[in-house]
Amino acid sequence: MTVLVVLAMFVTACGSTPPPEPPVGTQAATGRELFVGEFGCNTCHPGGQKGVGRDLVGPEFRQRHPTDASVREQIRNGGGQMPAYGEERMSEQQLQDVIAYIRWLNEQQAQ
Ligand code: HEC
Repeated sequence: MTVLVVLAMFVTACGSTPPPEPPVGTQAATGRELFVGEFGCNTCHPGGQKGVGRDLVGPEFRQRHPTDASVREQIRNGGGQMPAYGEERMSEQQLQDVIAYIRWLNEQQAQ
């Protein structure tokens, strides 16, 4: 327990936001793996929050992207400092998984 507390303090001190973890085996959990790993979304959207990139959680985000289609468009096309994740780089399935993770993050916050 003490170790966990110390670890938590250490992580906080470093200013990094550990991305929340959805239940194992869900589509959102697969999406998190991709978000943090392969596609490096977490570098610019730490824990789904504002970094170099915009906040991907909260009422303003949900207002800007009420449907998955518009989130999808942003990821496929990029924009500003965000790279485009075209089909040659990210499969349709992976795209759906990543969106499921972003939606899950929003559901957590809305509760
Ligand atoms: C190099 C930094 C960078 C990376 C990597 C990155 N993004 Fe972004 N992202 C941005 C920036 C900057 C914006 C704001 C774009 C703009 O101003 O048009 C943004 C915007 C977004 C938006 C729209 C936010 C809004 O409120 O309209 C979504 C959704 C998003 N990113 C998802 C992702 C996902 C998913 C990944 C990984 C597959 C990713 N981003 C990787 C920098 C990044």
